[in-house]
Amino acid sequence: MELRTIDNLDLKNKFVLLRDDFNVQIVDGKITDAFRIQQSMPTIEKLRKKGAKIAICAHLGRPKGTRNMEYTLAPIAKYMNIPLISDCLDKDFMQSMKEGDVVLLENVRFYPEEEKNDPKFSSELAKGFDIFVNDAFAVSHRAHASTVGVTEFLPSYAGDLLASEIQHLSQVMENPKRPLLSIVAGSKVSTKIGVLKALAKLSDTLIIGGALGTTFNYALGGKVGNSLYEADQKDTALEILQYAKENDCEVLLPLDKGVAKEFTRDALRTNKNFDEIEPDDIIIDAGEETTKRDVEVIKNAATVIWNGTVGMAEWMPTWSFGSFALANAIAEQTRKGKLESIVGGGDTVAALEACGVKDDITYVSTGGGAFLEFIEGRTLPGIAVLEDK
Ligand code: 3PG
Repeated sequence: MELRTIDNLDLKNKFVLLRDDFNVQIVDGKITDAFRIQQSMPTIEKLRKKGAKIAICAHLGRPKGTRNMEYTLAPIAKYMNIPLISDCLDKDFMQSMKEGDVVLLENVRFYPEEEKNDPKFSSELAKGFDIFVNDAFAVSHRAHASTVGVTEFLPSYAGDLLASEIQHLSQVMENPKRPLLSIVAGSKVSTKIGVLKALAKLSDTLIIGGALGTTFNYALGGKVGNSLYEADQKDTALEILQYAKENDCEVLLPLDKGVAKEFTRDALRTNKNFDEIEPDDIIIDAGEETTKRDVEVIKNAATVIWNGTVGMAEWMPTWSFGSFALANAIAEQTRKGKLESIVGGGDTVAALEACGVKDDITYVSTGGGAFLEFIEGRTLPGIAVLEDK
């Protein structure tokens, strides 16, 4: 896939509309994980050095087309130390902009037209700018005005972060070092059917964990107590197992689980095999045997693709046991130069961060849904419009 990049553009004094994904977690007005913002900085710096005048367009959360200040980008503007323009369609700020200046436009999702990819709104958003740069890989699976619509009105290019995401993910999908191990976990089979099938086709081994794994255990007749799982996905789970078999992919499901009688951070943990699980048990983490096995499998892999934590990783230390063991094993093998590791998804990246091993991973994607759709082989609409044809 050849993308139009910003490398050879002369941007001196040009107005650039830059789409970034700053959809980060904010608690009490404070950013708790600035990974996406930090990853966006090199492109911003590059545009500044080229003498561009940059207005960053971004979204936060899902304000459903209303000006709900719970979703203001003010904390992000403060964090980046740049002015916030209170309406993304305002153009007055342009008059006083100098080369290298950067402003942040208020949440583009305050307008319902954004998610509808409304052409009139797209043309208003594009007005006054010379070019559009999309560096928001993480929202490129959405055909919105600020990812797709504006490209009808402005010459459009891929930013360096977006280009790097495509390059790293394409490389692992097209030419992975083998054995390739994929680890998919999280809560819902229904949201991961496509990616499970794609990875079953591509991988030598597929570990299915978390509540996702519980649904597979249930489908095979295992006891799951009072845990989170999807009874209505039983047939889908069986179909995926059959598909993996047809594609010579070994699937590893949970062997045991960390369970409790209540779904709380402080609940007492016991380790149980599936036949020991009682009706009032709640599965909250991977079990000890499962984790031991998974760590061994990681040691024998040449490539790992990981999306989804295998338990409530944020409930440290009791319930982060399984996810942290995977994070540490993947990081250790990568550090030793024995493994190429690709990790994507907000919770998974947060687990790496909490373990202090994020920098050891070969490539950490900023994408959540976009990461999954890309791996699934789907065409991401925000990227298709940047392709050099
Ligand atoms: C994300 O956080 O994955 C992206 O910003 C997309 O957000 P959305 O799922 O609300 O469209």
